[in-house]
Amino acid sequence: MLSSVFNILSPYFQTQDPEEAHLLTLKMLKYYGMVPTFTRNSNTIQLMGLDFPNRLGVAAGFDKNAEAIDGLFRLGFGFVEIGTVTPLPQKGNEKPRLFRLKEDQAVINRMGFNNDGAEMISKRLKKRRYNGQDGIVGVNIGANKDSDDRVRDYALCASAFTDVASYFTVNVSSPNTEGLRDLQAAEYLLPLLQGVLNVVETSGQAIPVLLKIAPDLMQEDIEEIADIVNNMPVAGIIATNTTLSRPDMLQSKDKGERGGLSGAPLLDISNNVTSVLRSLLLPEKIIIGAGGIKSADTARQKLDIGADLLQIYSCLVYQGPQLINEILKMLEALASAEKSAYI
Ligand code: FNR
Repeated sequence: MLSSVFNILSPYFQTQDPEEAHLLTLKMLKYYGMVPTFTRNSNTIQLMGLDFPNRLGVAAGFDKNAEAIDGLFRLGFGFVEIGTVTPLPQKGNEKPRLFRLKEDQAVINRMGFNNDGAEMISKRLKKRRYNGQDGIVGVNIGANKDSDDRVRDYALCASAFTDVASYFTVNVSSPNTEGLRDLQAAEYLLPLLQGVLNVVETSGQAIPVLLKIAPDLMQEDIEEIADIVNNMPVAGIIATNTTLSRPDMLQSKDKGERGGLSGAPLLDISNNVTSVLRSLLLPEKIIIGAGGIKSADTARQKLDIGADLLQIYSCLVYQGPQLINEILKMLEALASAEKSAYI
């Protein structure tokens, strides 16, 4: 039902201003979220102490303010990552700040962490929980643009969500907050991760902490980050965020806009990072593969190179819920093939 509404409205969404179209999509999902949730089972999988109904999630930035979670579960997602949330509410950058590169099945954004702030968003999640709605909801945390202590911001943010987060993602990889990606360097990353881990430990809740990294890192940077993750009780890495690079293949007129590029042209770049990470990380550390998934085949590629879970965003804009169905079917087929191999 929800899929068909999207399909009917799809041509309309394509002609709208991208940000307006996205807000409308969120409204629709919010409305349909009122209907009881059913999540399709592609075979439950246990990772990081959590039971994932399937391996496909929606990436951060889609539902920054946690308004459409149950609508997203109804579309079939096994998990939803909300945020990035900052301690204080933030307006983000001047509009326009979101561009569709249709010919390239890509998006450029320079949103700049527009969000309602930790207090309001955590209230929203608590209300949802109180109403008996569950499912795996990751909370992606970041720092305010004007903060005088960005490392502290991550701990502050985490402390607002210890009652409601299924997992935390420490986002040090968005290109749209000046200097944020510098936090990927060991001298900042260590205290930053330790601060968030301390908040989790003090809360007494077993909330896994993940790190989300940029695709534009050098080999030595990736090695340093993998080493840190291997030596701390961090559950794993989300690879990757958007890229500042502009591959030669881009055709669309907006390819020169400032911001992070995501969607189909990001696939190879982010897969390279995933492969390198898989060879460096301890086997128990998980990888969530995000970046450029545009089909069941590209989703499968990420699993083949070592991703445990998947996230999508940009290609949903062009393909709608059909993309989710296609990937879930592939995951189901894969799970049954694996099962029959053991019989
Ligand atoms: C994003 N992404 C993102 N990531 C994040 O950690 N925090 C955020 O707030 C956002 N915001 C955001 C806004 C928009 C408009 C887009 C398109 C993307 C990045 C996203 O979660 C994902 O990592 C990349 O988009 C790569 O996946 P896709 O889009 O290629 O499937």
